[in-house]
Amino acid sequence: MRSAGNLWTRKHLLGMAGLAPEEIDTLLDTAVSLREVNRRDIKKVPTLRGKTVINLFYENSTRTRTSFELAGKRMSADVVNMSVASSSVKKGETLLDTLANLQAMNPDVVVIRHPESGVLEFLANNLDAALVNAGDGRHEHPTQGLLDLLTIQDHLPLLGQKSFAGLVVAICGDVLHSRVARSNAIGLKTLGATVRFVGPATLMPAQAAEAFGVTVHHRLEEGLAGAQVVMMLRLQNERMNSSYLPSVREYAAFWGLNRARLKLADPNAIVMHPGPINRGVEIASEVADDPERSVILEQVANGLAVRMAVLYLLCGAGVRR
Ligand code: CP
Repeated sequence: MRSAGNLWTRKHLLGMAGLAPEEIDTLLDTAVSLREVNRRDIKKVPTLRGKTVINLFYENSTRTRTSFELAGKRMSADVVNMSVASSSVKKGETLLDTLANLQAMNPDVVVIRHPESGVLEFLANNLDAALVNAGDGRHEHPTQGLLDLLTIQDHLPLLGQKSFAGLVVAICGDVLHSRVARSNAIGLKTLGATVRFVGPATLMPAQAAEAFGVTVHHRLEEGLAGAQVVMMLRLQNERMNSSYLPSVREYAAFWGLNRARLKLADPNAIVMHPGPINRGVEIASEVADDPERSVILEQVANGLAVRMAVLYLLCGAGVRR
């Protein structure tokens, strides 16, 4: 690990873009120091007593929403999960008005997931509350990027790496619609990894190589060759407004990760997936459930620690503003 000054000066966490390596280190180091709380019998510390966190999710979520809620509660913050479905959003209240009203109740942090790309920057420019991006459209999902970095960092010694420098990571599948791919590519490149985007041309962003400093591969076998980290992506059907694939069956046949294809990767390669998994589509159960290779549930556990670290830092602990 690089030396990390305990440095956090940002008000918001809107994306991985623009974070310096030292800031990523601070987030990961903080997560490492907090995650032992989750292994105790009594999983509670008073760190954020008196702080208020509001979770506002305009899209479905299992992992992110639950772990933000648990993260706040395990550090003794007051956590409010606002249900959009039963809120005045359904009466036509705008996003900005909703946030302005929540801000009037003086929360310390508002965690937002929204289907519109870039909406967090808009809100940050128009509100005073500290905001965390829990996923905005196909743009960014920074806490997913951070939890993935922490999971990879845990496995660096097994992968024969002292650091992220030169680590080969293949991000495979529906890159076009994936905020996870974007946040990971940005974070991994910031730390010096070599990143491959692997997927069909119809599911690849335009100018991906230039925009992200990655190599682009249109055959899974080529993209997997020698990769030390294999990150599979879900087909984001909810973001597809036209037909990108001949059929899911054909996609699974050409782009699904199975044990035979995984043999093309580094012998110690770890397999990641942000969830939720489409079993038998982008990943076979024999790989997703392989205790030797799959780190999918480690990602989930690290997600809780990372979200504790984000709330801790944004609530002012260790902040030099
Ligand atoms: N990885 C992820 O964001 O999962 P959820 O949609 O369940 O939060």
